[in-house]
Amino acid sequence: ILATFLAALLAYLLGSCNSAILFSKLIKGQDIRELGSHNAGLTNTLRCFGKGMAGLVLAGDLLKGVAAVLLARLMCSLMGAGLPFPSGADTTYIGYIAGIFAILGHVRPLYYGFRGGKGVLVGVSIFLVVDPVVFAVLIGIFSLVLWRSKYVSLGSIIATSFCPVVTCLLHLFVYHTSVIHTVLYVVLSAIMSAQVIFMHRSNIERLRNGTENRFSFRSKKA
Ligand code: G3P
Repeated sequence: ILATFLAALLAYLLGSCNSAILFSKLIKGQDIRELGSHNAGLTNTLRCFGKGMAGLVLAGDLLKGVAAVLLARLMCSLMGAGLPFPSGADTTYIGYIAGIFAILGHVRPLYYGFRGGKGVLVGVSIFLVVDPVVFAVLIGIFSLVLWRSKYVSLGSIIATSFCPVVTCLLHLFVYHTSVIHTVLYVVLSAIMSAQVIFMHRSNIERLRNGTENRFSFRSKKA
């Protein structure tokens, strides 16, 4: 329990390092939350500052998700974990916990007045460590929806919604994980999905009204 609590706390503090806010303030002297869609994320950075800055945010948020999971695992192994799972399940479980709290930090950052991004990138990045197959499938779904619709938000929402489904199918039919552990992972991944979809409330409203921004690579230069 203590290992889980510390892993969650560390993931929250790391998640709070929102790279879109950090780089926009440091490099451009502006706060990304005052520009474009007002979202502190990759899409709005690309929209407002161009590809160079977007590349930095992409790298920063991907690294943050990966680091949150690796640090959580390290902490649990240093503390002897004591989690109620066999060793393989321990690392998966703690990865999801780190993901949930890294997303929380990203969307409600401690250092930036609890106003951050929508958690898509940091959420998906934890799967680079927890389950790269899930990562690849979610990126595939996102790319397909973006390609067909030209809406980043729709791609994010649909890919995120599939996360618990993909997790369930893989654990039950490919990894042959026990039903109890599969249920646990599906619940944890559903919490992550719910966090991200909840943060897309304004996008859902705009998609309904037909006023959502369409994605274009013709963005400002950094
Ligand atoms: O990752 C956030 C994306 O899904 C939508 O961003 O700036 O268009 O609200 P934005």
